[in-house]
Amino acid sequence: MSTGRRWLIQLSVRHDFIDFIFAEIVSLADYVGLGTDFFTDEVREYARKYFRIIFEETETITQEKLERICSRSVSTHGLYELLEEGSTYQELIENLKSNPDDNRKDYYTLQFAFGIEMVNRNKMSMPERLKKFENLEPGLPMTGKINLNNPEVLLVLLERYPPCKNNEKKKPEEMDHVFLSRFITGGQRKLIQDYAVTNRIAVGNTSMDAELALWMSNIAQIDETSFVFDPFVGTGSLLLTSAHYGSHVIGSDINYNVMMAKGKSARMGQGDRNSNETLFGSLAHFDLENKYIGAAIIDNNINPWRECSNGWFDAIITDPPYGVREKCEKVGHANHREDWINFEMPDNHFPDKVSYNLADVFNDLLAFSFKHLRNGGRLIFWFPVSKDELNKHGKDLYPRHSGFDLMFDCEQCLNTRTSRILLTYEKVQVNVDDEGLISESKVHAMRNGFRELYFQPTKPGTVHPKKKVGTQWNKASEYTNEES
Ligand SMILES: C[S@@+](CC[C@H](N)C(=O)[O-])C[C@H]1O[C@@H](n2cnc3c(N)ncnc32)[C@H](O)[C@@H]1O
Repeated sequence: MSTGRRWLIQLSVRHDFIDFIFAEIVSLADYVGLGTDFFTDEVREYARKYFRIIFEETETITQEKLERICSRSVSTHGLYELLEEGSTYQELIENLKSNPDDNRKDYYTLQFAFGIEMVNRNKMSMPERLKKFENLEPGLPMTGKINLNNPEVLLVLLERYPPCKNNEKKKPEEMDHVFLSRFITGGQRKLIQDYAVTNRIAVGNTSMDAELALWMSNIAQIDETSFVFDPFVGTGSLLLTSAHYGSHVIGSDINYNVMMAKGKSARMGQGDRNSNETLFGSLAHFDLENKYIGAAIIDNNINPWRECSNGWFDAIITDPPYGVREKCEKVGHANHREDWINFEMPDNHFPDKVSYNLADVFNDLLAFSFKHLRNGGRLIFWFPVSKDELNKHGKDLYPRHSGFDLMFDCEQCLNTRTSRILLTYEKVQVNVDDEGLISESKVHAMRNGFRELYFQPTKPGTVHPKKKVGTQWNKASEYTNEES
């Protein structure tokens, strides 16, 4: 039953990543017990258009749960309680005057600050802002002092403009709705800077971008009770963000040099890696070493993990190699000779590596995860696709396993021919006696041509997708007061 209280979550304006944003918000909503039924097609449509989600209070939708979502989400700018609205400022003022003020009268006497936030229009001048606040006075008789540094209440006008094409900003008169709101809490966008690749100790050619890694960890619904594994750990980007959310983490990789901080650094001009550029060093740099269980040099194709009754891990979060910047390799004999059997290897022998078929990488990952994830645990990984194939086959292209439900598939465009899809699966309870259930993992055969496809010269006349410039986002921190 609705009580009439309403809140708005302002999402980050990332047109190309709206599916990732949904995956994060829906996963966190589920995690905090708000459920997922709320996210109807209508809600999604509104969010795609305005990068906002409006919630109405019910037994399951509460402010406390929304605050918990914001305390983790890197997709949100902030949470606001909606106090009044109008399709024009005139209508807002009329509504403020005529509607009961039970939801705001307690704020009239508090020390306050004002803000205006909007998407899709250019910055607003200070005189325009001031005029808008002053005009509200007949309906909003604030008697408290203005306090910019530490207000007891921050009142924010959330203006809405129609979506703009080609990043052309809307004119002030095109505003089609305005909410008067109270700012409650911000989101966690700051973490993207904190964990930026440039702020890390260990970096490699394929170190995962911080925003993507933080999304992956949130979609995995992990917390301080979780145990997370990355079987293609590299420089440990996904362990870092998972440890940030409190999980204990463990990783493995076939690459001795990366794991032991040996050989050449990927940092320009650095020369050899420093001895602290290990996974431990990386986590310690962020004071997360107490979350680090360890790492091992393992070929995921022949991993040594022993099965346990309900799986070792709460989540497997990973970025498998797909042969573009990192080789897909596994241990094997390049030129197998019969007389090598039983040959005693010298102590300093390094095993041969052979090419790891891309389809096998994903089949092995699903089979491994089915054995070692707990029921309900999530498997999250990137999957490379050709755009032509994706258009033709859709979701049939993705690796499948009857022990997993596909939860989300979020596409990131790489170039005109290729994309990678962030796939999220959840392990479902299956009858383990029924062997047929666990053997139908399929990956489309074209996957092995991915490297060639990625580097193929672009055909003359191909139209490159335009890089979208982030839409102007004016922050609530741009408060105003009489003196300004
Ligand atoms: C795309 S990178 C992962 C990057 C990592 N997420 C990071 O942020 O640094 C893929 C990793 O898989 C590793 N790899 C390749 N073949 C492997 C195998 N057979 N078993 C385990 N790891 C493998 C590579 O050494 C590489 O570090």
